[in-house]
Amino acid sequence: LLKEAFAAAGMEAQVGMELDPARVDYMVFSPRGQAEGFERYTRLKAILSLWAGVEQALPLVPAEIPLSRMVDFGLTQGMVEWVTGHVLRHHLGIDAHIHGLNGAWIDDKHPPLAPDRTVGILGLGALGTACGEALCTLGFRVAGWSRSAKTHPQITCFSGAAGLDEMLSQTEIAVLLLPDTPATENTLDARRLALMPKDAVIINPGRGPLIDDTALIAALDRGHIGHATLDVFRQEPLPKDHPFWAHKQVTVTPHIASVTRPKTAAQTIVETIRLHEAGEPLRFKVDRFVGY
Ligand SMILES: NC(=O)c1ccc[n+]([C@@H]2O[C@H](COP(=O)([O-])OP(=O)(O)OC[C@H]3O[C@@H](n4cnc5c(N)ncnc54)[C@H](OP(=O)(O)O)[C@@H]3O)[C@@H](O)[C@H]2O)c1
Repeated sequence: LLKEAFAAAGMEAQVGMELDPARVDYMVFSPRGQAEGFERYTRLKAILSLWAGVEQALPLVPAEIPLSRMVDFGLTQGMVEWVTGHVLRHHLGIDAHIHGLNGAWIDDKHPPLAPDRTVGILGLGALGTACGEALCTLGFRVAGWSRSAKTHPQITCFSGAAGLDEMLSQTEIAVLLLPDTPATENTLDARRLALMPKDAVIINPGRGPLIDDTALIAALDRGHIGHATLDVFRQEPLPKDHPFWAHKQVTVTPHIASVTRPKTAAQTIVETIRLHEAGEPLRFKVDRFVGY
């Protein structure tokens, strides 16, 4: 698909290691592929990550070569669908309504409507904003937190440490879509989990280190946090003996929240190169100083 998209744009693409390093202007890269020997590519203008999260790519890519992260329609759409599905599961209380126990319903109460439910999104970037907008369309009250201060016509925006505390104190369902950087590690720690309303739900399709796992399990065990749905972990695959597997209030999924879709990502990559060749700044450029 990438070769076809390049050919349609009048560009040449080579796949794998058969290429002549001295002829390569742009490299499309995932940390699962080539991880060394970048110095042989003497005319590289940029490296384009196939992944949105660049914490594994950054230590591999030489600092002088600009790195662009993946922002892809298919990746975004997949995340919107996954997040919306899991938010609705918890909002509607679907588990309690479809599982009877001893001939009786676990819960037969009507859930509140979406306008009476607050969802807080940690990370208002490409993915977080798209998820927030979809949830707004369903009628939810949506708040979002980012590093820089933002405004949005539908999403109530927060930034800074105090902003996160204020947002979490109102957040019944938290969706974590922050990158994995030194500044975001343990964003949800014991103190911040305690700020959330009782029975709040955590949904993490971002990265494992965003949550202090021990603090989360303690908050679930003492009945403060109601449930955690986790797609990403500090160690992947999740070790067989990890307490998350057996915990009744934890749902684990196999890092499938979303994925770069070749059909749409190929178009994104070609367009990023085309714009850069036309003299525009590299799109989706990673800021090495902040790590995303
Ligand atoms: N589970 C999966 O399948 C899957 C798939 C794709 C991506 N992901 C994860 O999703 C993450 C987000 O992707 P994206 O494309 O939305 O990234 P993005 O566009 O770079 O957005 C990141 C957001 O996080 C905010 N942020 C970063 N550091 C922060 C800090 N220290 N404090 C507060 N806010 C901070 C940014 O704030 P500013 O707006 O101020 O810059 C931005 O709003 C990726 O990094 C990756 O880890 C997971």
